[in-house]
Amino acid sequence: MTVLDPKIAAAINGENDEAAQAGTRKCLINRRQVLLSGGIATSLVMVGIPGAPEAQTPAVISTYPRKLIAKLSALKTDEPFDFEYPDEGEYAESILVKLGQVSGGGIGPDKDVVAFNYTCTHQGGPLQGTYQAADKALGPCPLHLTTFDLTRHGIFISGQAYQSLPQVLLELDGDDIYAVGMFGLIYGRFDNLQA
Ligand code: FES
Repeated sequence: MTVLDPKIAAAINGENDEAAQAGTRKCLINRRQVLLSGGIATSLVMVGIPGAPEAQTPAVISTYPRKLIAKLSALKTDEPFDFEYPDEGEYAESILVKLGQVSGGGIGPDKDVVAFNYTCTHQGGPLQGTYQAADKALGPCPLHLTTFDLTRHGIFISGQAYQSLPQVLLELDGDDIYAVGMFGLIYGRFDNLQA
């Protein structure tokens, strides 16, 4: 036969309020302790998550290469020069052209030398060979006919694309033209520097 603790037996029988309250209190405290300890554990986890990655993940800094493209003195108005940037991977083919009029991002004494990626921002149509001297434009794209204005940072003039053509940032050092960066994401890449 099981012998109950006298205090618990009294609580069960309602004989001793104090004893009953003591038993109940004991039970509540235990549950509270459990809940409290669980809450603390949760807080620690939540606090720990944001802190840990910062402490352990190294910063990644990407920089564009500085690549010699051409000699300014060798360029002739409306005669494009092809090159690859920022690497030799997929979709890196680009056009360098002296437009003969002041243009957004243009370098040189006339601020008319610009460079753009050759891949259409709509669905990757190839724009090689589509330079139009009369309009200073690239296109129409062979897939869906978008045309881009090279005097205004490659904004689309007409067609299906809704993003400007990525512009290659240029720098002039004496007679040397360098590609030093890009403005806009190259089609088909999540990162311009990851071919
Ligand atoms: S891929 Fe160039 S307009 Fe669609």
